[in-house]
Amino acid sequence: MKRAPLQPLVVLPHTLSEITGPMFGHDKIGENDHDLTCQHAGEAIGERIIVSGRVLDSNGRPVPNALVEIWQANAAGRYRHIRDQHPAPLDPNFSGAGRTLTDEHGAYRFVTIKPGAYPWLNHHNAWRPAHIHFSIFGNAFITRLVTQMYFPGDPLFAYDPIYQSIPEERARQRLISKFDLETTRPQWAKGFKFDVVLRGPEATPFEN
Ligand SMILES: [Fe+2]
Repeated sequence: MKRAPLQPLVVLPHTLSEITGPMFGHDKIGENDHDLTCQHAGEAIGERIIVSGRVLDSNGRPVPNALVEIWQANAAGRYRHIRDQHPAPLDPNFSGAGRTLTDEHGAYRFVTIKPGAYPWLNHHNAWRPAHIHFSIFGNAFITRLVTQMYFPGDPLFAYDPIYQSIPEERARQRLISKFDLETTRPQWAKGFKFDVVLRGPEATPFEN
């Protein structure tokens, strides 16, 4: 079953308030919001990773001050959510949500735990490849884009109808982060690069 709306889309007229606000400011971002491994009293369990990249427009120009939010399952593949009750442990030290703003070079950086693959009930023996959900806001709610970042070499790609719902192979590849030795920190965490291109022929595929 591929994902698609069951009803025709409703076109909402844009008013001035949707186009111009609300705005996001630095004061809304907490000190540990970008580091999902230390948002609680103890350290999160799992493989620590650094996910970084840039938000770019169609001409490759950096997009500064974009609000980048992520959410994900924990190392065991379980979400801290009422609807996720499959038999995998929750981590009391991992909520699975983070947020940050891009800097003047359009760059963002998260420290987190590599999420586990998780089963979902879409079809028999359905497992999602490990992924991190991304939301990128421009200056207003109306400019929100949502996508998913994957990890290189996941054997579940071939079986995942969400990943496979993107028809073009090259576009699918853009959702796969790249292992990056430069952002990898010795004795501490592997680095993965994931650039988000908002528009144009090289645009990152979005869900909305
Ligand atoms: Fe997910």
